[in-house]
Amino acid sequence: MEWSVPVNSMLKDEVNKLNYTLIPEGFKGDVREVRLMQECLSKLIDGLGEQSADAQGLNKVITTAEKLRNTATHVLYLLKDANAKDGSGDVIGMLKVGRKHLFLFDEHDQVCEVEPLCVLDFYVKRDRQRHGYGRLLFDHMLADNETSPFEIAIDGPSPKMEQFLARNYGVDRLLHQNNNFAVAPQFFQHTNELRSSLCSTPAVSAAVGRFAAPKPASAIANILQGE
Ligand SMILES: CC(C)(COP(=O)(O)OP(=O)(O)OC[C@H]1O[C@@H](n2cnc3c(N)ncnc32)[C@H](O)[C@@H]1OP(=O)(O)O)[C@@H](O)C(=O)NCCC(=O)NCCS
Repeated sequence: MEWSVPVNSMLKDEVNKLNYTLIPEGFKGDVREVRLMQECLSKLIDGLGEQSADAQGLNKVITTAEKLRNTATHVLYLLKDANAKDGSGDVIGMLKVGRKHLFLFDEHDQVCEVEPLCVLDFYVKRDRQRHGYGRLLFDHMLADNETSPFEIAIDGPSPKMEQFLARNYGVDRLLHQNNNFAVAPQFFQHTNELRSSLCSTPAVSAAVGRFAAPKPASAIANILQGE
C-alpha cells in the first residue's frame, strides 16, 4: 500500500521555502515521519519539474528533488492551495532560484562579470495560470531576497515569462545573452559597484616564453556558454 502525506501536513505556509535538506520550515516529526514526508515531497517536486519542462518544450527536466538535494545553493519556493483536494491541500506552482557566475554583455557590448540571483525554473500548473499565482510566488521570492526584477537574471525565459515580466513588473524587454540567460537593460545600472570592481575588458598582452605555446580551448568560452 502506498502512503501519502497530505500537502497541508507537509507545507505550513502558502509559499514554502525549501533547500537541499528537503525539510520545509516548521515541519516537525521523528525520523520516520521526516523520511516519509521527504519521499512524498520528492514526488510532488519531480511531477512539477516534468510539467514545467513539458510546458517550456525542454528536452531535459530542470527541477528534480535529487538535483535540489545535490545543490546547496539552490532554493525552491513551493506555492500551496490549502483548500484544494477537499481541504488536504495541493502544490500549484514552483519557483527555483540560485546564484550563477556569469559574463553578461550590456547594450554597448561591454562585458560584465557578475554573480546575480537567477531564476532557474518557474511554473504554475496549467489550469491555475493567469490567476495571479505566478505574481504571488515571484513577489515572495523578490521580498525574501530583497531584490527586484531588474537585478536578477533569467535562465532561458519563455515567451510567457517575458509577458509575465512585462505585465507584472514593467520589464518591457530583455537582453538575451549567448549563455541562454537574459536580463533587463536596467540590470547594468544596478551592477555599477560590481562593474567598477569586477568589470573590465581583460587586457591582452603579448605572450612570451612558455605562455606563447598553443593553448587548449578557452575556459572563458565555456563560461560564456554557461558551463
Ligand atoms: C510564466 C508563468 C509561471 C506565470 O504564472 P501565472 O500564474 O500565469 O502568472 P500571473 O497570473 O501572475 O500573471 C499573468 C500574466 O503572465 C503572462 N501569462 C501567463 N500565462 C500566459 C499565457 N498562457 N500566455 C501568455 N501570457 C501569459 C501574461 O502577461 C499574464 O497577464 P495577462 O493575463 O493580463 O495577459 C506561467 O504562465 C507558466 O507556468 N508558464 C509555463 C512555464 C513557463 O513558461 N515558465 C517560465 C520559465 S522562464
